[in-house]
Amino acid sequence: NQDKVCDLAIFGAQGDLALRKLFPSLFQLDKAGLLDAETRMIGLARDHVDQPGFKENVTEHLKKYIPADELDNEVLQRFCSRLQYIKLDFATEEGYDQLVATRAKVKHRLICYFATPASVYGPICENLSKHQLIDSKTRVVLEKPIGYDLASSCEINDQVAKYFDECQIYRIDHYLGKETVQNLIALRFANNLFGSQWDLNHIDHIEITVAEKVGIEGRWGYFDKAGQLRDMVQNHLLQLLCLIAMDPPSDLSADSIRDEKVKVLKALQPITPELLTTHVVRGQYGAGTIDGKPVPGYLEEENAKSSSSTESFVSLKVMINNWRWANVPFYLRTGKRMPEKLSQIIIHFKQQPHYIFAPEQRSIASNKLIIRLQPDEGISLQVMTKDQGLDKGMRLRAGPLQLSFSDTFHADRIPDAYERLLLELMKGNQYLFVRRDEVEYAWRWCDRIIQGWEDQNTRPQKYPAGSWGPVSSIAMITRDGRSWYEDS
Ligand code: BG6
Repeated sequence: NQDKVCDLAIFGAQGDLALRKLFPSLFQLDKAGLLDAETRMIGLARDHVDQPGFKENVTEHLKKYIPADELDNEVLQRFCSRLQYIKLDFATEEGYDQLVATRAKVKHRLICYFATPASVYGPICENLSKHQLIDSKTRVVLEKPIGYDLASSCEINDQVAKYFDECQIYRIDHYLGKETVQNLIALRFANNLFGSQWDLNHIDHIEITVAEKVGIEGRWGYFDKAGQLRDMVQNHLLQLLCLIAMDPPSDLSADSIRDEKVKVLKALQPITPELLTTHVVRGQYGAGTIDGKPVPGYLEEENAKSSSSTESFVSLKVMINNWRWANVPFYLRTGKRMPEKLSQIIIHFKQQPHYIFAPEQRSIASNKLIIRLQPDEGISLQVMTKDQGLDKGMRLRAGPLQLSFSDTFHADRIPDAYERLLLELMKGNQYLFVRRDEVEYAWRWCDRIIQGWEDQNTRPQKYPAGSWGPVSSIAMITRDGRSWYEDS
């Protein structure tokens, strides 16, 4: 049992991530009976709060983020009794003695969750080490963004690596904890129907869309330094692309999966300055309407600098230089202030080699596999059927074979990504976490694009809030004789 019990030390426990995601997810795990009775959560932050004040703050946020009918009072009491607060300054030595004292009588594993800016990961590790809080069982969790580019990411990873081995480090990409993202592995490798068709001989192209309705939501300071490429593509979109494009791993171990993902990242065609104009579109939202309500543009958001040329949208045509995917484009797009919140992957299969139906129907007659990550998690396969009716002849019609997770499996709720990630972390499974080389290959590829933008010194193209991005994003795919799925 010693293996399941832990002290989860959350650095940055009073921050947005901890209060909005971590504590609510831990509560759900507790409610589901997945936390050991002795597991404790130690909140660490700089604020002056006493124990009741901290518990009250956590409870308030649980009430805000968990639906009332899921907030069981008995579980709430149990959960609160696991909580402790220590005032601690991440970068100086203040507070670490208290963490030592709290751990004095226990032998179980310490897991340190860094829900803080990456700039303090190094100093925290150093202080943990000085206070002999690290042993071979200790685990550490790093939140993104790990750095700003390859160089800064290496620096941060080096600082952590001085104190922890790679097998102790859990780098979060919360997309890997999403139910349907997990399902990509099952879908591809447990269904020969798809497994045998998954290559350049059968697939024409692939689309990955991660669209958000929200704008910058008071995060302008952070977001403006990052932009959509660093904030979403370097991690979430490239991870999705890897899971779709990787070769079958030899087993489900963390390293077998991560080895295959790294091979994909290494095979990405570099976006050279020549390709920048044809393969990448960079946008920034202007004023527009979302759900019929006017919303301001990026440059008019609270605390915005009116001269900013940070992108809030990016679409890319990505090629993978290997035997499986040569000449099969992956079209990626992600943006803020899109018409809807939608994450989906669409696999467009090739048409038949010889077409026997009416030529004007040719454009609709190809199979598509639509993998919906959010909302309405599910999978749908568009198949061609004959249109019904005596007068229709052999007219074709596309119809869906649907698998909605909530309807089919009667799931009352789909767990949040953080619930799964926290559970796997406590169990010691690294397969949903990102290895150092993945982060670095992804940065290497993105840095080249960012460098290209800087050298060209151009501004992002405008798109009205509530649209699917700049028109040139549509042009990028139309030039190849294709279209984004909802435009078809
Ligand atoms: C985060 C980004 O990693 O992912 C945010 O920093 C973004 O900018 C968020 O809004 C999107 O996550 P989800 O799970 O809501 O799609």
